[in-house]
Amino acid sequence: MMENKNTQFKVNADGPLEISGEFELFDTSGEIITRQGPIYLCRCGNSKDKPFCDGSHKASDFSG
Ligand code: FES
Repeated sequence: MMENKNTQFKVNADGPLEISGEFELFDTSGEIITRQGPIYLCRCGNSKDKPFCDGSHKASDFSG
């Protein structure tokens, strides 16, 4: 487990969760996907590239 350095989480209105700084993001098999942001994680459920946002929220009625 790495020490978090300057990791920030930002909920973008009607869009993805933005994570910046240093962190470890693991896939379902426990492999590290990435260690550094910025990255954008889908909150709407419509992305074809989960867990990442692919912009599909813009064409949906997702709000939040
Ligand atoms: S939040 Fe962007 S595709 Fe889901």
